[in-house]
Amino acid sequence: MRIDILTLFPKQVDAFLGYSIVGRARESGLVNIVCTDIRDFSEDKHRKVDDKPFGGGPGMVMCPQPVFDAVESVEGLDSRQATRILLTPQGSVLNQKMVREFAFRDRLLLIAGHYEGFDERIRDGLHPIEVSIGDYVLSGGESAAVVLVDSIVRMIPGVLGDSDSVEEESFSENMLEYPHYTRPREFRGMSVPDVLLNGNHARIEEWRGEQSLRRTRERRPDLFGES
Ligand code: 6GU
Repeated sequence: MRIDILTLFPKQVDAFLGYSIVGRARESGLVNIVCTDIRDFSEDKHRKVDDKPFGGGPGMVMCPQPVFDAVESVEGLDSRQATRILLTPQGSVLNQKMVREFAFRDRLLLIAGHYEGFDERIRDGLHPIEVSIGDYVLSGGESAAVVLVDSIVRMIPGVLGDSDSVEEESFSENMLEYPHYTRPREFRGMSVPDVLLNGNHARIEEWRGEQSLRRTRERRPDLFGES
């Protein structure tokens, strides 16, 4: 898979995606992530990419020209058709179903903006899928882009070490995780539940299922009856 990220902060985004699971997936060639500076496509003599809103109002608006030119230039670097994604609080709120669908694509092109918003012609002319990562406001789309990329890359076959963990996750989707324990058996007076120490795997699975159900009911009742 190839993922292009258009941003005003390519070094920040690239560095963040250089570590841990995503960093290793890149090194092993399972994903090719390319960060491109939208400012490189500005035709303004001061490399401006934003301007005041027509009609007045606060903040600055991302200009269409550098974004269109960046999209067209970057898309030309690879023959595969790119799925265009615009990071914006006005988009569909990201969930694991959307992540799984994105993970099947050959090529994604993420557009991360800054400022008050995008000139509407970016939407009208480029027809991106609009994605938000939740109902709160970020100062820019960069952090949303790295969240999206992280969630997608870990779903690419071969990226996670044990293939079980993705399958088990999808099995228990819309459920919170059961409690996990590791050594030592006792820590500051707190013990690991006996059921996990007896080696009765049927009983352990049952216990974990009960715990997941209970946690989900208590903390996220909204997850029930949703797909
Ligand atoms: Cl994708 N962008 C911005 N600026 N804020 C957000 C967001 C995206 N998702 C949630 N808040």
